[in-house]
Amino acid sequence: IPVEDFDLVIFGATGDLARRKIVPGLYRRFVAGQMPEQAQIIGAARTQQDDDAFRAEMRGAILEFIGPDQDEAQLSAFLQRLYYVAIDARGTGGWAELKARMRPGVVHAFYFSVAPSLFGDIAERLAENGIADSESRIVVEKPFGRDLATARALNATLARHFTENQIYRIDHYLGKETVQNLMAVRFANILFEPLWNAQYVDHVQITVAETVGVGGRGEYYDNSGAIRDMVQNHMMQLLCLIAMEPPYHFDPNAVRDEKLKVIRALEPVSVEDIVRGQYVAGPDGPGYLDDAGNPASRTESFVALKVQIANWRWTGTPFYLRTGKRLRARTSEIVITFKEPPHSIFDDGDTHKANQLVIKLQPNEGMNLTVMIKEPGPGGMRLVQVPLDMSFADALGAEGTDMPDAYERLIMDVIRGNQTLFMRGDELEAAWAWTDPIISAWETGSKRPEPYDPGSSGPEEALRLLHRDNRRWREIRA
Ligand code: BG6
Repeated sequence: IPVEDFDLVIFGATGDLARRKIVPGLYRRFVAGQMPEQAQIIGAARTQQDDDAFRAEMRGAILEFIGPDQDEAQLSAFLQRLYYVAIDARGTGGWAELKARMRPGVVHAFYFSVAPSLFGDIAERLAENGIADSESRIVVEKPFGRDLATARALNATLARHFTENQIYRIDHYLGKETVQNLMAVRFANILFEPLWNAQYVDHVQITVAETVGVGGRGEYYDNSGAIRDMVQNHMMQLLCLIAMEPPYHFDPNAVRDEKLKVIRALEPVSVEDIVRGQYVAGPDGPGYLDDAGNPASRTESFVALKVQIANWRWTGTPFYLRTGKRLRARTSEIVITFKEPPHSIFDDGDTHKANQLVIKLQPNEGMNLTVMIKEPGPGGMRLVQVPLDMSFADALGAEGTDMPDAYERLIMDVIRGNQTLFMRGDELEAAWAWTDPIISAWETGSKRPEPYDPGSSGPEEALRLLHRDNRRWREIRA
């Protein structure tokens, strides 16, 4: 879908996110021919520098994060679309210059890639200086609050100057190709949906495992922990896409209405249904407490929980979620384990296994459905489980491997004015309302997180969370 001409202003343009994701993502869209010729990307930050210095910095970022082999003509042409304005979010300097740089009659988007404490100041100055109007769009990043109260306050701050349909709250998981594929798999096929409920689904597992630790961002992380950092947002979104009812149309509010209903139907999580862990030191790195620079920290770098959804479709089918740092492999996947057939006509002993649909989000995006078939040979009716395995890269060739990065897609959606893959304010608040009691019960207690070895699958207690229900986690592997 073509993109209208735009001016995109990035506040916090010298920060990590702009260098790693936003500008490289825009460059990839430029190379793909999707950026209108006159479009402008205007970096804004406190550093005093000119356009050329900013361009040089962004050239470095592109070569570092996309790769050193770039077509020089293309790269230079892209960099010419970049401008820079020195602005102090809390001061008065730079705003007139920014206004002068922006063109009338094109889409105006403002990316707030700054600490949330600056959202209010920037929004106010954009309005006061007549830079933003009722057509402008703003993009905000997580952490969007640290609990319900702060999230509400942030929503209220933004609402003073912008309406809900101007606000694009990014959860980059929604920009991942395979996450969107969840909706395609469910709602563009007849095969799965009739079975997609508590009558046929035994349980669901959602795993987001990472091998990295928190070294380098210990200060932020130690104030958050896995629940705030991953569960309240990314994992919640995955859960919603699996659990929601079919929206009547693939339309922003129709999709978000259905997600909101799921979040509202989540049962409170009891303490025995949650396991927190902290990685200890290993041969190739320090433990969490050192990485966080806080020897007394009780913040979790791993969490596993059993979540129940109290509605007609899902009552009785638990969703087990787990995420953590410094685990065995980097992998994100969703496993739907179906129930066993009600009656077996074969004398196959205990070889029968339930069907499983594994949706692999990263790396090696794909789907795998296990089915029972007859073991070949004359030895009678013996059954064996085999995979119907589909790697998107194999099935789709180059298109399957060259997936756009989440940020590329999301930024282009902002320009197109499509909010489907962005969180609505009420959805985000509902997610905090569910997470708050889980966090405060922990913070007011004195229990310590369970230690786990780096390179493992997390603490033993997380395995027991499923064993107790006669289930087991799918092994974490790349
Ligand atoms: C971020 C979290 O939102 O998501 C990080 O703050 C985490 O802690 C990251 O590492 C994971 O994203 P991805 O795209 O690498 O799975």
